Amino acid sequence: MTRAQTSSYGVTQALVCALILQGCEAEDAWDEAICPEGGTTLSYENFGRDFIGSECQTCHASEAKERRGAPTHISFDDLEAVREWSDRIYERSAGENVSMPPGPVDPDLATREALGEWLACGAP
Ligand code: HEC
Repeated sequence: MTRAQTSSYGVTQALVCALILQGCEAEDAWDEAICPEGGTTLSYENFGRDFIGSECQTCHASEAKERRGAPTHISFDDLEAVREWSDRIYERSAGENVSMPPGPVDPDLATREALGEWLACGAP
């Protein structure tokens, strides 16, 4: 993504948030994310791949048949892409952050807390 795209995207997002006043403020902030002492047993193989695959890639994958409005430059095709987007994935989906996936069925809190732990530990 170029800097110009990033900033116009940010402006658009801020406007949309101001207009609809919902779902834009992260409850749990990325800079306060905590990896437990001793690390995590969660890994891409035993958690991340399935979570991202079932909850996100239906819209956020370069091969997605129907992106349903998910920005074309935001795809979580592999672990590298997930790591690149860790902060945003965390603030949209981890713990108390529930704005992604957009619903109607949300992953449960335990699953979203696991996502937060996995990301906070560097998505091993
Ligand atoms: C049904 C389609 C759909 C699914 C499933 C989905 N998204 Fe999205 N996503 C969107 C749309 C539409 C947007 C653009 C509007 C917005 O930002 O709310 C978006 C935008 C985003 C953004 C960019 C905006 C930002 O906050 O930086 C991120 C990151 C994101 N989604 C993460 C996720 C994650 C993580 C998952 C899985 C847990 C997920 N999405 C699942 C449709 C989807």
